[in-house]
Amino acid sequence: MGEHVVAAASELQEGDRLVAELAGREVAVFRFDGELYAYLNWCAHQGGPVCEGALTGTYEATYDREANEVSLSWNREGEVLMCPWHGWEYDLPSGECLSQRSTRLPSYPVEERNGDVVVTL
Ligand code: FES
Repeated sequence: MGEHVVAAASELQEGDRLVAELAGREVAVFRFDGELYAYLNWCAHQGGPVCEGALTGTYEATYDREANEVSLSWNREGEVLMCPWHGWEYDLPSGECLSQRSTRLPSYPVEERNGDVVVTL
């Protein structure tokens, strides 16, 4: 395991992301809701550059059995990372794939230390 300084902390503001090559891997670092997250830039579907996708929301469906009606609502605006290749969606804070709950983006420890953003892999 090695530590990699990917940016000065001041260069990664709330809502920002950066993609860096670290030890031969593309790793993306996000600052979201005051926290840092680091994920491998690799989608579990077909290996697309998921971390370069839009941060968006998602539709969630509810089914009313009595009325036999399905309703859709748009939720979680800005919390969902959508792969640019085929649209698989991942929860940004956990890396969990919304359609394949047992699948998560590979993640790495990341922290702010002495004014730098440091990823360990
Ligand atoms: S490679 Fe990401 S959705 Fe297909």
